[in-house]
Amino acid sequence: MAKKTIVITGGAGFIGSHVVRLFVTKYPDYKIVNLDALTYAGNLENLKDIQDQPNYIFEKANIVDAEAVKAVFQKHNPDGVIHLAAESHVDRSITSPLDFVYTNVIGTVNLLNATKELWKDNYEGKRFHHVSTDEVYGALGDTGFFTEETSYDPHSPYSASKASSDHFVYAYADTYGLPVVLTNCSNNYGPNHFPEKLIPLMIHNIINNKPLPVYGDGKYTRDWLYVIDHARAIDLVFHEGKGSEKYNVGGFNEWKNIDLVKLLCQQMDEKLGREAGTSEQLITFVKDRPGHDLRYAIDATKINKELGWSPSVTFEEGLSKTIDWFLSNKEWLENVTSGDYQNYYNKQYAE
Ligand code: NAD
Ligand code: DAU
Repeated sequence: MAKKTIVITGGAGFIGSHVVRLFVTKYPDYKIVNLDALTYAGNLENLKDIQDQPNYIFEKANIVDAEAVKAVFQKHNPDGVIHLAAESHVDRSITSPLDFVYTNVIGTVNLLNATKELWKDNYEGKRFHHVSTDEVYGALGDTGFFTEETSYDPHSPYSASKASSDHFVYAYADTYGLPVVLTNCSNNYGPNHFPEKLIPLMIHNIINNKPLPVYGDGKYTRDWLYVIDHARAIDLVFHEGKGSEKYNVGGFNEWKNIDLVKLLCQQMDEKLGREAGTSEQLITFVKDRPGHDLRYAIDATKINKELGWSPSVTFEEGLSKTIDWFLSNKEWLENVTSGDYQNYYNKQYAE
């Protein structure tokens, strides 16, 4: 394996920390630079098992600050960038859309500029991998899948900002020849998931016997993928994906929210030694998310056929591992749910 320096942005976040761990442990000859601003969603605790590895470096920097990004790039001279830093929560994008424009759009353009400037048209062995979402495709009805050819039709401020960032990445490939590759993934779940998102929020509330807020009628559908399988897909596409192409990543694993919450309740009642049916009584239907997309479902045939990727764990296994992780990391959960989180939670779930 050739020596490489790779900047991974957002490496202290949920998915980013799993990508950093995979690269640090699988590629000891690479230097892995984790560039992260440590927002409310970034947490170096997520990486404490690998923080002392000789091939790992952390750089605190905000991608909205073009000079700060440039300084990190000049200092480390990366051959590759894997860009995960983002504002990632749809509900927060509905209350604070501009934060999403700054980080997801302007931050991405700052990274593209820094990369273009550093590589100066010498693109041999170089690659910018942009990590994106299936939400750029909009919403599906009861049938069908998003393929790589599906037109963009974002609805939330979050998905609009991610769609915009995807377009900028293509624009830099088309205009300046920047060597790029993109992945658009479905909903992730697993260890270190911040408890503003459905699965970790429900786990946290079940542990604490708090109401389980299901938006609308609970019939909204998402396609769930274990986070380590997403990290494996990023590794494959970064190394073997065709230049300027995009790959959809998903689990072929659709769940209506209400069925998923009931499954979580069943698994947690068993693990917590509670009588069957106890946690389901906490389910509370609450006001719907504005502009709520009915259904996402990814067709992951391309990455499967071209690169041989497929999910490695079933949903039942992945969910069970995830619950076990949260039950054995109660201190992590307590740390991330104190302070600001309480204010966010009280405002978001006021009704
Ligand atoms: P996250 O919110 O858990 O983590 C985001 C990370 O980015 C944090 O470490 C945060 O500190 C950092 N960050 C935020 N703003 C920054 C800034 N201005 N400068 C530098 N760092 C900043 O997000 P996640 O769920 O791990 O998602 C990571 C990426 O994957 C995002 O680009 C997201 O759009 C994409 N994605 C997420 C999912 C999912 O289900 N979570 C699915 C598909 C794609
Ligand atoms: O599809 C990929 C996307 O998945 C990523 O790009 C986003 O970064 C990630 O946050 C996720 O977006 P969603 O909006 O699908 O995830 P979230 O966990 O917020 O919600 C999942 C579903 O559960 C959605 O239909 C809304 C619903 N929900 C969510 C919360 C937080 C509830 O019913 N109650 C809740 O309290």
